[in-house]
Amino acid sequence: MAASSIMGTLHQIHIGSAAFALQKEGGHSASANSAFLGVSVAEHGKREFGFPVLRAKKVTSRNTNVARLRAQTVAAPVETKEAPASKKTDRKGNVIITGASSGLGLATAKALGESGEWHIIMACRDFVKAERMARTVGIPKENYTVMHLDLASLESVRQFADNFKSSGRPLDVLVCNAAVYLPTAKVPTFTAEGFELSVGTNHLGHFLLSRLLLEDLKKSDFKSKRVIIVGSITGNTNTLAGNIPPKANLGDLRGLSGRLNGVNSSPMIDGGEFDGAKAYKDSKVCNMLTMQEFHRQYHEETGITFASLYPGCIATTGLFREHIPPFRLLFPPFQKYITKGFVSEEEAGKRLAQVVSDTSLTKSGVYWSWNNDSASFENQLSEEASDPEKARKVWAISEKLVGLA
Ligand SMILES: NC(=O)c1ccc[n+]([C@@H]2O[C@H](COP(=O)([O-])OP(=O)(O)OC[C@H]3O[C@@H](n4cnc5c(N)ncnc54)[C@H](OP(=O)(O)O)[C@@H]3O)[C@@H](O)[C@H]2O)c1
Repeated sequence: MAASSIMGTLHQIHIGSAAFALQKEGGHSASANSAFLGVSVAEHGKREFGFPVLRAKKVTSRNTNVARLRAQTVAAPVETKEAPASKKTDRKGNVIITGASSGLGLATAKALGESGEWHIIMACRDFVKAERMARTVGIPKENYTVMHLDLASLESVRQFADNFKSSGRPLDVLVCNAAVYLPTAKVPTFTAEGFELSVGTNHLGHFLLSRLLLEDLKKSDFKSKRVIIVGSITGNTNTLAGNIPPKANLGDLRGLSGRLNGVNSSPMIDGGEFDGAKAYKDSKVCNMLTMQEFHRQYHEETGITFASLYPGCIATTGLFREHIPPFRLLFPPFQKYITKGFVSEEEAGKRLAQVVSDTSLTKSGVYWSWNNDSASFENQLSEEASDPEKARKVWAISEKLVGLA
């Protein structure tokens, strides 16, 4: 299909961020770069709009053996302490990955499972699907366990944590990866406890999970223990993609304080009208704020590395399943051939696997991104996504909502 035809159709569809990205990108000389790939957008932004500067460059091996993937990074936007260097055990690492039944989570499980150095706990809402997908992609049976977790139910989160603890397995790394994205929803839907579904699942479910498992991580004697919360460029308004309406904005958190229930409070964090695309972006801001608040409160005391990342635009994953069919058809070729921001699930999985296992990515409080050569660098978060006061408030309100305070 001709590029102009794809562009025209996406322009007409005008649903969600990708279509708008095209309009924005089309108006500038750097349009060959992706509106979704952090480095391209930010470098473009630096030239054209004075966005924050990306400072790092490094070269990472593309070797599929995760154990051999090594990243060199520079730049230090976030104050941090190195994790304790003492290596206490040589056993396999145990990593929980939420939403490992498809997309990025599955690709990461595959990359880690194939390395032979990890046992993956696939924490999934559909465990039959998870088992089937693990077999389909060929993760060796002895390297994974499927456990049920529905992040849209805090009761399920608690049950998962209890089940994991009673398994007696140590926990070394937790990856909060699962997410829902409802860009075409006209009305809000809700979690079991009545929170708007995107924020309830992506943020509150993971918030409770990571808090409940923190003690297990503290006890780990593994060489490096980590909590990784998957972020997104779309929640960062210091990028071109993050400036595509509807923009992420948590406002004064009045909707979150009001429980996001859509009855006596707005289903949106900022108290506004429901917008499914914005709810997703807001949830990603919460994910990135949570990572930093974890870093501030627990890194020094525990030595746990807390990190977030933007894996790139993985246009083929199930994340876009709620979009209208023409969007789903055109979005991957658009990202592949027009913006060149496309990242395959396999490549994105290797990136997240690096954040799990690479010995050079142990710095805490960092939001990782990758450039067009698949080299990792420490990216800068938007003003809102790096606001410590907002992080503290989101943390305090979330604690109440999930029943921890
Ligand atoms: N795709 C991209 O371009 C992109 C870009 C930036 C960031 N990300 C982030 O990458 C992460 C993974 O997304 P993806 O692109 O791989 O999408 P995906 O293929 O749809 O994967 C999402 C996963 O989350 C699971 N999930 C959804 N609701 C759940 C719930 N209530 N409880 C437990 N698991 C649940 C899904 O389970 P089922 O298999 O049962 O549906 C699926 O395994 C997300 O955090 C997303 O924000 C993606």
